[in-house]
Amino acid sequence: MIRVGLIGLGTVGGGVVRILREHHDDFLRDQGVDIRLVACASRSRQKAEALGVADIFTTNATSLLDDPDIDVIIELVGGTDHARDYVFAALEAGKRVVTANKALMATYGHELLALAGTKRLELAFEAAVGGGIPIIGALRNSLIGNRIDSVIGIVNGTTNYILSEMSQGGVTYAAALCQAQAQGYAEADPTADVGGADAAAKLAILATLAFNTEIVLAQVPTEGITSLTPLDLSNAAEMGYSVKLLAVGNRTSAGIDLRVHPTFLPQTHPLSSVNGVYNAIFVVGDAVGQTMFYGQGAGAGPAASAVVGDLIEVAQRITYDITRPYIRFGTEQLPIVPLSSLMCRYYLRLPVPDRAGVLAATAQSFANHDVSIDRVMQFDNPDTFTTISNLQPETVLADKDGQPGAARRHSQEATTSSATGDANTVSSQPMTEGAPESARETTALSATGSAREATALLGSEDARGHRTANLIYVTHPARESDLKAVLEEIRDSGVLVAEPVLIRIMD
Ligand SMILES: NC(=O)c1ccc[n+]([C@@H]2O[C@H](COP(=O)([O-])OP(=O)(O)OC[C@H]3O[C@@H](n4cnc5c(N)ncnc54)[C@H](OP(=O)(O)O)[C@@H]3O)[C@@H](O)[C@H]2O)c1
Repeated sequence: MIRVGLIGLGTVGGGVVRILREHHDDFLRDQGVDIRLVACASRSRQKAEALGVADIFTTNATSLLDDPDIDVIIELVGGTDHARDYVFAALEAGKRVVTANKALMATYGHELLALAGTKRLELAFEAAVGGGIPIIGALRNSLIGNRIDSVIGIVNGTTNYILSEMSQGGVTYAAALCQAQAQGYAEADPTADVGGADAAAKLAILATLAFNTEIVLAQVPTEGITSLTPLDLSNAAEMGYSVKLLAVGNRTSAGIDLRVHPTFLPQTHPLSSVNGVYNAIFVVGDAVGQTMFYGQGAGAGPAASAVVGDLIEVAQRITYDITRPYIRFGTEQLPIVPLSSLMCRYYLRLPVPDRAGVLAATAQSFANHDVSIDRVMQFDNPDTFTTISNLQPETVLADKDGQPGAARRHSQEATTSSATGDANTVSSQPMTEGAPESARETTALSATGSAREATALLGSEDARGHRTANLIYVTHPARESDLKAVLEEIRDSGVLVAEPVLIRIMD
């Protein structure tokens, strides 16, 4: 019999309790393991009663760690403070550990696995990345014969849901976030998801395994999705891209290229079709080629599925006295390529005053730093300019056909010659697609949004009543440091009326 102590009875803990109860006999018959949940700990008793485990419940988690009869501890508390103490203490006490804690593994994974190695114990963490997707096992076992060149993931379901809603429904970021919260896909405090920290923790774990190099969360450059607007997503679509929050890890000759940020991803890329709360991880190995792992990255069922999978494996090793396999977790120290040296194309949206000369002045900044411009678009048709006030929080704009968020449209598109961003080469041409919609034909429709964002979709006015517009540049491949210098110069010129948006393009 394998005696299990569970710490944390929340979403995942509840899922684990249910699977162990429903499938105990299946595991005994099919997997040859008799897994018994003998103790549960959490802060409040209420959940234990709801789950029917009040008889084995305690609020004293340490008592599980001190219990010599417990073979395996499942840590489902989350965070890095108490969880770290629990996992350390469990390993020190000679117990195997299963955790779903990405923050813990991305921050302390190296020392915890080193301790597990010294003690010849298991520390399993499949649920820490991709929920129910078996990506950790794949990287640790099935793909071990490869030199992994790339691991790129959509590893946060909340942000993928928000971006999918913004893209498909044309709703604002705020509206999509409210929908995600109403559906239970986003926390009341969504900061870790929408700011990219959750994806960065997962990338640190994936990259450590994929490239066998020591990477911790703090080393991952991270940007979230909070500043994106439906305009950015519709522009992406018109250019043949979807917008995804990608966790990117590439092996390069200079070291490991690591980053989390919103990305224009070609619609033909397999990750482009991953929508809603689904996650996917795209892995390229020198032998296997391209592979993609797809599934539900969160939720009681998917996460508990991964935790129980780990538990059964650990239980089998104990039951059949199988030696713990060698765990390779970042044994090398490869350099990390600084984000400033990244070369790619960029989409840059500049909120500017709607007046003559701004386009030429900003284009000159690109020329000053040798950043070549592929195209320029301006979204500021004075004929369609309007200010909308007194919108209720549950209101967002729709066009005359009732399509949410389609009200704002291009007034002009300008292209440059392929020469490096010379402002004098800019020439205007009318847009052929997405003909301008008159804002006067705009109606209010039931969906979530805000008056401030609604006006921003159309072009709006600043505090002094000046008209503003979005000036959008798409560059040719450029070095990130040069692009940042352009942005800095434009910022210093005082022309920006709000924060600019920079999105990297993956070609
Ligand atoms: N939710 C998912 O879909 C998902 C997916 C993959 C991985 N994970 C990971 O799984 C872990 C658990 O996530 P969750 O969503 O289940 O979290 P959760 O719903 O917030 O549950 C956490 C549980 O831990 C208890 N707890 C918190 N601090 C504690 C402490 N110091 N000592 C003892 N118990 C404590 C809480 O008790 P009270 O309720 O009494 O406060 C609660 O029962 C996290 O590491 C998370 O990142 C979650």
